[in-house]
This record gives sequence, structure tokens and C-alpha cells, in this order.
Amino acid sequence: MTDSPATGVPSLTVRDNRTGQEYEVPIVDGAVRAADLGAIRAGEGTQGLAVYDPGFVNTASCRSSITYIDGDKGVLEYRGYPIEELAERSTFLEVAFLLINGHLPSKAEYEEWVYHITYHTFVHENVKNFVEGFRYDAHPMGMLMASVGALSTFYPDARNITDAHSREIQIIRMIAKMPTLGAWAFRHAQGKPYVYPDNDLGYTANFLSMLFKMSEQKYVADERLVRALDVLFILHADHEQNCSTNAVRSVGSSQVDPYSAVAAGIAALYGPLHGGANEAVLRMLRRIGSMDNIPAFIEGVKSGNERLMGFGHRVYKNHDPRARIIKKACDDVFEVTGLNPLLKIAHELETIALEDEYFVSRRLYPNVDFYSGLIYEALQFPPEMFTVLFAIGRTPGWLAQWLELVQDKEQKIARPKQIYTGQRTVEFVPAPERWA
Ligand code: SDX
Repeated sequence: MTDSPATGVPSLTVRDNRTGQEYEVPIVDGAVRAADLGAIRAGEGTQGLAVYDPGFVNTASCRSSITYIDGDKGVLEYRGYPIEELAERSTFLEVAFLLINGHLPSKAEYEEWVYHITYHTFVHENVKNFVEGFRYDAHPMGMLMASVGALSTFYPDARNITDAHSREIQIIRMIAKMPTLGAWAFRHAQGKPYVYPDNDLGYTANFLSMLFKMSEQKYVADERLVRALDVLFILHADHEQNCSTNAVRSVGSSQVDPYSAVAAGIAALYGPLHGGANEAVLRMLRRIGSMDNIPAFIEGVKSGNERLMGFGHRVYKNHDPRARIIKKACDDVFEVTGLNPLLKIAHELETIALEDEYFVSRRLYPNVDFYSGLIYEALQFPPEMFTVLFAIGRTPGWLAQWLELVQDKEQKIARPKQIYTGQRTVEFVPAPERWA
């Protein structure tokens, strides 16, 4: 590899055949700046070159030190720590601290972090009134998206995004309250009374208590299930510039408060191609129903009439390391809850996908959503709650990315260009003449 003779740094020499002009475009960190291409013009008074990239398949929107993914090698690290280590040996709140603060907490830092999050799990009593306002069959993701957006009206000081203390308290509030909002959405859908946070319990055990406590004095979940859900939260905590994080950053770039930015992230996560895939996987497995129906379903996928939900990924063109860890966690959970009969169908789909040319040629491997739904169902969650669980896990990641955005001097309001394909200067004919 040689550097450019002119500049001594790696660069492209671009020749514009329209004008015969040559341009030196520096390559920094494996990327060229779109602005440098903007300097390439066909002639005086013409638009500079733009980069057209639907879905941002090959566009870097920011510089980030939060999460590293190597899609070809199936590597995922949070602040440099391999996901396998964190899933095995950390806790969700410790990982949340790591993502937000960039380092693992000292004992004192961890105790203070856990204390503040524990004591911010309550929400304003008015929240109950508007959760009550949803239809009995409202999707919990719709309720969560609305509730988090509504929190911005309870904490108007959140608009002070340049104030470090304000940022810190909103981050603590959102991580602390997301399980409460998610649990109350679930209880509303079940027609059950809301359960208030129990501050004697840890973060994930408290969440299970708010979900499932009935008349017993204290709800005590099986420790193995608490640990399995805590690991699932760790695995979902961040994933660099995925669709919902991109939504948080794009909305956050207008300098709106973090509750509104995270509500946008929840909206994006709701989609079946993103976080909604775990719910879609369960519905797909139930629809297949038996091993005999698998060949016909696979034919449907190949003919384009079906999509193998839980497979494929924009970045991972090898195994999603999270899918492997979740698949292992299935065994721990099923030891407690009994085997999920859909697991056999899932295993058979995975075996076929890893051998069949259609999937191999498209490098479609199981992603984080493929097995997680099976665990959630075993934990007695209905499919419509699966993406709420994803959102609770992803909240520290969204907030870490938001924090990085608002402190990044290079960032500005997101406003992409377009390639205009419509008509120009059309003569307007008023309705009476048009209709005459
Ligand atoms: C998440 O970005 C992240 O990091 C997301 C996430 C995170 O942690 O935030 O990892 C979480 O969202 C995981 C993905 C969950 N979604 C699903 O499981 C839905 C099913 N998968 C897909 O729809 C798809 O694979 C995506 C959306 C995940 C990725 O889409 P891409 O990168 O835009 O790929 P593509 O749609 O261009 O597909 C390439 C080819 C196409 O075939 P051809 O048109 O070239 O013939 O692969 C095919 C697609 O049709 N394909 C699939 C498929 N996924 C892609 N065919 C069948 N089944 C699938 N699941």
C-alpha cells in the first residue's frame, strides 16, 4: 500500500472524465469524506458530487468508541470487551455503566449506580392514567413508545442537553423506568393491576416481579431465569449504528431531549425487520407448527413468498455471536421451564439454512432474534412483549450513543441530500378550471 505522492497520506486520485480534472481524496480510517467528493463538479455553477446510498449500506454516519463489530469474523465488543466475556461474567447494570461511562465501574461507582437506578424505578402516578387510556389489545411496543415520549413532558429540564448533570439524571431515569413502563404495558394488556417496583430486588428480578406478581407478599423468581434474562439484556445492550440507534442519533441531532430521541429508537425497533423480528420468529415457528411443514416453508422462502425471520444481518456475514450465546442459554432456561416444542423446528430450520445453497450464498445465519423468542416464550411472555424486552436491553446503548452524539463537536443536524426524480416547474391550474 502506498501513500499519495502529493500528500503523503493514503488517498484516492479521482479523475472526472466529464472535465478531465483530477482530485486527491484523502482516505482516513478506511473512509473518504463525502464533502471531499462534493468538491467534484461538472462545471461552474453545477452541483458537487453526492453519495447515493439507500439504507446507508456503505455510509459511516459518525465516529464512535462504544461498540465494535466485525461481521466477517462474528466479533462483537462493548468498549473493547468481548460480548462472550460480558455475557458470562458481568451483569446488565454493570454493562450499562460500561456503555455509558466507557469503563467498568469501581465498587463505589457500581454501588452508587445501582442505588440511583433502584430509586428511580417509580414513575409519576399520571403515567397510570395514560397507560389506562390505551385499548385493552394495544401492542405493548406502541404503549412503550408513547410512554417514553410522554416522559419528556414530566422532565422538562431534559431539554438542557448541554448540561452534564441533566444528561446524567435523564439517563438514570430512563434505564430505571423502562422496565416499569414495559411491565405496566404488559399488565394493562392482561387486565391485571399494576405492580409497583420492589426496591429490595435487583434490576431484572424487580422487572419479573412487576410483570408476574399477584397476591403473594413478595414475588421471588427462579434465580436461573433471572440470570438468563439478565444475560439477554446484556446481549441486546448495544449494536453500533443499527436502525434504531440511527433513529436515536438522527432525532437527537436536532437537540431534542433524550426521551423523545429514545422514543424514536423504540419506534424503529418496533419494525419486523429490526427488533420486531423476535416476535415474528415465534409467529413463524407457530405457523410452521410441525417438522413436516418445514420443506414447504423453505420453498416459500426461496420463492420469495416467505422470509426466514431471525436469519440474515446487514453486518454479520458469519454467525451472530449473540445467537450462539442465546442458543446455549436456551438449555439453562428449558431446564427450569421444560423444553419448548418449537425448539426442534428452530434447530431443523437452522440446520437447513446452514447447508442450503440459497441461504449459504446469501450468507444468512441465525441472528440475535432467532432463539431469543423461544426463551421469552418459555419465560411466559406473549410474543407481543418480546420487542419490549429488546428495548429494555437496548436502552443503555441508545443512551450511550445519544451521549456520544451530543458531545461530538463534529456532529450537526442530520439532513441528507436526495436525488430528485419528480417533475419541475409545473403550471398550477386552480381546481375550478381543472374540474370544468
Ligand atoms: C436486528 O443492524 C443491527 O445491528 C440489527 C440488530 C441489532 O442488534 O440492533 O442486530 C437486531 O434487527 C437483527 C435482524 C432481525 N431481522 C430479521 O431477522 C428479519 C429477517 N432478516 C432480514 O429481513 C434481513 O436479513 C435484514 C433486514 C436483517 C438485513 O437486510 P439487508 O442487509 O438489507 O439484506 P437484504 O434484505 O438486502 O438481503 C440480501 C439478500 C436478499 O436476496 P436477493 O434479493 O439478493 O435475492 O438476502 C435475502 C434478501 O431477499 N434475505 C433473506 C433474508 N434476509 C435477507 N431471504 C430470506 N430470509 C431472510 N431472513
